[in-house]
Formats: sequence, structure tokens, C-alpha cells
Amino acid sequence: MKYAILGDIHSNLEALTAVLARAAELKVDSYVCIGDVVGYNSNPHECMEILRGLKPEAVIKGNHDDYVANLQLELYGFNPQAAQAVKWTRSQISEEERLWLEDLPYTKDIIKPGGVRFQLVHGTLDNPRMWGYIFDRYSAETCLQYQSMPLCFCGHTHTPMLYVKSQQEVTASSFEEVRIMPNHKYLVNVGSVGQPRDGDIRASFATYDTKDNTVALHRVPYDIETCQQKILDAGLPSRLAERLGYGC
Ligand SMILES: [Fe+2]
Repeated sequence: MKYAILGDIHSNLEALTAVLARAAELKVDSYVCIGDVVGYNSNPHECMEILRGLKPEAVIKGNHDDYVANLQLELYGFNPQAAQAVKWTRSQISEEERLWLEDLPYTKDIIKPGGVRFQLVHGTLDNPRMWGYIFDRYSAETCLQYQSMPLCFCGHTHTPMLYVKSQQEVTASSFEEVRIMPNHKYLVNVGSVGQPRDGDIRASFATYDTKDNTVALHRVPYDIETCQQKILDAGLPSRLAERLGYGC
């Protein structure tokens, strides 16, 4: 069984389409999404429709999903461009789509026959509804204390990263492929499909091969220019288009 773990899609249709083409090449069997389906970019409806059409095994809620769905929430903690995109997205989606976002869970535990077990969270397991960020091994250590399974996937920072807890310590590193070993815990940030921030402008996602017990990171080029033009055409802040060209 091979899972694709997609996160921080952020209404980027061009990136999502390119990622799904790569996932098909990789013969992915099942999809999960670690949140922030919407926000920032200009195709919230299309991205929700495509994601839901994949019949994913789980989709959990990100902070942008939460704020788009809850019209009464004040946009504390959002930069002005992100807040503008949340308000714009609220005006674009249907009530049925808003309810779908609202109903997404904050975390999900996947348990399958044959010992396949992993967790999903957008930010951090120690308080999933507060949208804390894991930027280093110290904040990862707190999350890992709450991690009950050997493997957990997260996102939110838009920067792929691997945190491994052994009996002695927690390490942080970039990664391309990692094998899940006994007596360790793995917290894997899969990066962002729709707005990477690690200086690499390519879309990011991960796969988990349950037979080999390996997790691999994938980077996929996509049509950034078209996405940028659509952001401008929608009247969204130009900074949101620019940052896609820098990966920040
Ligand atoms: Fe995000």
C-alpha cells in the first residue's frame, strides 16, 4: 500500500494537478491530506472538488480551513495578505463547501490491518486547535511527547523536515527518504503543495510505502506563471503571486 500525504494545498490548482500526476506515476493507492486545502491562492473550489474526488482516507483541518469556515472568527495572527485571501475565499465557496471545511477533524489516527499505524495533524499534537508551529527539534520534542504512534505527518510551516526521536535524543534534518525503524518515533513535515517556503519553488508532498516501511519526499515543478496570473486576476494581493516565484 502506498499513501500520498498532501498538505498546505492552499487553492493552488496548478501545483495540485502536477502533484497528482506525479502521485499517479508513483502508483499511489490512497490519499490523505494534512490540512490547509484553501487560502492564499485563487482556486479553492477546484482544489476542494479534486481532493474530495480522490476519496481520500482522511482530510484534517488547517488554520486557513478553520478561519475560512468560521465566518465569525477574527483574523488574529494572519498577515494582511493572508487575511485578505481568507476573506476572499469565504466569498468564493458554497455553503456546502464551507460546511465540509467546518466538519474536518483536527487530528486523525489511521490504523489498518497488518500493523500500519500513523497520525495526522496540521500543526502540532500538543494542542492541535491552537495552530502552533514546529520549526526546530525543541518544539518537535513537545509534539513527540503527545505522539502515540511510531509515525506522524504534519505541515503548517510549508517546510519539509524530518524529526526522529530515539531513546537518547530528538534530531531534525532534511530528508529524501527514510525507513521507519523500531523503537523510534518519526514526525514528518511533508512541506506544501501550494506555497512552498523552503526556497525551493517546486510543490512538495510525501509518500508512505507501508510494505517497505519507507517515507519519501517528492518535489514537483508546476506552472507557477499561470497560478500567479490567476492570483492577480482575482484581485488577491500581488505579494501572494510574487512569493510563489521565490519559494518563501
Ligand atoms: Fe498553510
